[in-house]
Amino acid sequence: MSDTRQPPAVLGGAPIYPAGPPDWPLMDPEIEQVFAELIQTGDWGRYRGPHGDRLRSALKEYHGCRHAHLCSSGTAAVELALRAVGVREGDEVVMSAYDFKANFTNIAMLGAIPVLIDLRPDDWQVDVDQLENAIGEKTKAVLVTHLHGGLVDLEQVRAICEPRGIPVIEDICQLEGARIQGRIAGMGGDIGVLSFGGSKLLSAGRGGAVITNSDEYQQRITIFTERGNDLSPLSEMQAAILLPQLQQLDQRTKIRLDTAQRLFAELETCAGLPPIRTNLRDSFPGYYKVGFQYDPSEFNGLSRDQFSQAMIAEGFAVHPGFRSLHKIHSKRRYRAPAPLRVADLADENVLVLHHPILLEQSDWQTGFAQAVDKIRQFSDDLLSLAEIPPKNDRN
Ligand SMILES: Cc1ncc(COP(=O)(O)O)c(C=O)c1O
Repeated sequence: MSDTRQPPAVLGGAPIYPAGPPDWPLMDPEIEQVFAELIQTGDWGRYRGPHGDRLRSALKEYHGCRHAHLCSSGTAAVELALRAVGVREGDEVVMSAYDFKANFTNIAMLGAIPVLIDLRPDDWQVDVDQLENAIGEKTKAVLVTHLHGGLVDLEQVRAICEPRGIPVIEDICQLEGARIQGRIAGMGGDIGVLSFGGSKLLSAGRGGAVITNSDEYQQRITIFTERGNDLSPLSEMQAAILLPQLQQLDQRTKIRLDTAQRLFAELETCAGLPPIRTNLRDSFPGYYKVGFQYDPSEFNGLSRDQFSQAMIAEGFAVHPGFRSLHKIHSKRRYRAPAPLRVADLADENVLVLHHPILLEQSDWQTGFAQAVDKIRQFSDDLLSLAEIPPKNDRN
């Protein structure tokens, strides 16, 4: 680690973590072996074969569910889940005002209306206390997404939705392998959605899955996707490289939890950058991103984008989070039964650290805290940085 009296790297100093963010996905020996076998057998180029069946079985066993449907992306999986629970034109789907953009778009593309609810002030996850107020006669489903190291209280969500017969879709695209109130993530609602995108914890470049115990939902997905050909398939090649990653998932989740805890310990006394955490019982997150509630007032008014640029230059992949959905969509496209004040704040102040560094066993956490201190110390100089949101192609 370098001298913190030097100017920040974005202003010409030496970066604190010159190694920079690690590559992803990792080329494990297990993956190399799969590629060698795919070439040898020719399975890489086949429509059908054993790999998709094996992955389906492994996902069912891992999640303890009856059905696992493989598809081409998490985005496709969300659409299939919405269709499976019967969302149609004119229906309403309740979701968080801070979520992945395509979740909103998927609802709108079905002719349904997203009903946006605000976040909890403490962990910036969807505020389940506001759910009842958002549910109306037209509510067809509730879509819940756990984000950035936070977890949504699904027991509370089920207690509201079950008596009303409203299905819960659980988006676990950012935390495969997590545990929420004693259940494996994805099994906390009626149907779960996974992503195997290139930056994700389980990566196949692209890909997704829908998991459920409902025969009816599975049947609807089959009817919608089977057209003599699969509408949004996952290839044999993709399925093959996901299998060893699923086997490694629990071990890697543990390492990520441990390295994230070490980071939180380093940041304990650091004002203005509290990590998003959970205090749900019998639970642990899966870290696709470690989220932070950035507070510019603790950094002399330095904007989140300026802070992010400075952290990236120091060697840490810290990017702005999502845009809140009511900030990027016309009011005509959604309903918001109550003000979205915390989502306003999240829109401007979520920062996320990308996961690959969480598998690094070196003491990068000390350097991370040093980089934050350095940015605070040089905040006056950094205020001159252009307010350009750093590029992020990793969602
Ligand atoms: C919460 C969430 N849901 C859904 C998706 C969509 O997944 P995909 O990129 O595989 O389409 C993403 C992707 O980042 C996501 O973060």
